[in-house]
Order: sequence, then structure tokens, then C-alpha cells
Amino acid sequence: MNFDFTVLPEDDRYRLLTNFVGPRPIALVSTVDEQGRNNAAPMSFFNVFSHEPPILILGIQPREDGAPKDTVANLRRSGEFVVHMVDMAIAQSMLVTGRDVPPGVDEIALAGLTAVPSIQVAAPRIAQSPCAMECRVEQIIDYPRRAIILGRVVQMFVRDECLDAAGRYVNPATYQPIARLHMDNYVTSDHQIVLEDGNEH
Ligand SMILES: Cc1cc2nc3c(=O)[nH]c(=O)nc-3n(C[C@H](O)[C@H](O)[C@H](O)COP(=O)(O)O)c2cc1C
Repeated sequence: MNFDFTVLPEDDRYRLLTNFVGPRPIALVSTVDEQGRNNAAPMSFFNVFSHEPPILILGIQPREDGAPKDTVANLRRSGEFVVHMVDMAIAQSMLVTGRDVPPGVDEIALAGLTAVPSIQVAAPRIAQSPCAMECRVEQIIDYPRRAIILGRVVQMFVRDECLDAAGRYVNPATYQPIARLHMDNYVTSDHQIVLEDGNEH
């Protein structure tokens, strides 16, 4: 089948794009509100787009009623956020942080996770996440139904056991992030394969 996106309704575009562009890594994003209260939410419109400068991108849509999600309101005001990678150990907690709760509710505490201070930004780091990136907002591209956030990574945490002995490369036996497919379907990284070209030139 073929779909003309210039005439396709929004819901159908969402269904097709999220069903077929995957797996998408999950950013568990922490921010703080104007009163210093913690907030967290998962975002799978997410990836890394550059290392020079080090840029992550998030795509965040408004709530059903058109109001901005807490994450967007907080990072617009504070200019800071922390992106956490999600593994199986915190998969269920990640879902709890995605609940539609009123502003001011601390989803990190709600999910039974632990907030610890970050190094360069005010938004907290979630201690149970194996990898976290402290970000400053670089640019926000606003569409009526989507804010595309470019975040510059200023600090990165990786749990020691997720690195090799030299502390350089990932240890695939201990770092196994999950990613989102369609709807409630996810994949884990517990069955990794090595693909080699075999062509030395
Ligand atoms: C796995 C997963 C991925 C999600 N990805 C996105 C996303 O990319 N963009 C978005 O706007 N909402 C996404 N959501 C929904 C938000 O997490 C949800 O609306 C949340 O309540 C927003 O919280 P906040 O108001 O504290 O920012 C996702 C939810 C889940 C469970």
C-alpha cells in the first residue's frame, strides 16, 4: 500500500510512522518546574543527531486539550533537562512516569525511582538509569502540534559496569536498553548480533 501524507489525517500519519519507524530508543526525560519540583516523562520521538556539537533531539506533542506537557513547559523555562536511557530494570517504572498526572506531581517519586543531583544542570539524574545525559536547550522548533527540541549534551553519566575495562566502549552484556516498537510493543537488547562487511577496503 502507498500513503499520500499530504492528505492523510494526523492520526493515520502517527499510526504509520510510529508503527514502522522503529525500534525507537526511549528518552526518560527529567526536568524541574518553577518551584523546583521534579518531573519525568518518557519520549520515544528521540535520538542522537550529532556529536560535534553533541545534540539530542526530542519531539513532544501537546496534551489532548492543546496545553503543553510539563516537560516542554519546564525545559522552555529552565533551558535544561536530563535524558536517561531505559533498560528492563526500570521499564515498568518508565511507564509509570508516562502517566497523565497533574503538573507538580513528581513522577520520579511516583515511579519509586530515586532523584540524585546532576553535575551541570538543575534537573535531577535518576539513579537507577544506566546512562544519563545532562542537556541544555540549544533550539526549539515549534509547530502547532509538535515542539522539536534540540538539546546540547554537557555531561554524560554511564554506570561503571556498562563500560568495558578501559572505560571506553559499551559492555553489551550489561548495557541493554529497551526501545519502543508500535503501541505497547517494545524490544530489549538482550540478543545482540555482530554484522561485519568482510570487505577490507
Ligand atoms: C514509551 C513512551 C514513549 C512516549 N513518547 C512520547 C514522545 O515521543 N512524545 C510525546 O509527546 N509523548 C510521548 N509519550 C507520552 C508522554 O510520556 C506522556 O504524555 C507524559 O504524561 C508527559 O508527561 P509530562 O506532562 O510530565 O511531560 C510517550 C509515552 C511512553 C510510555
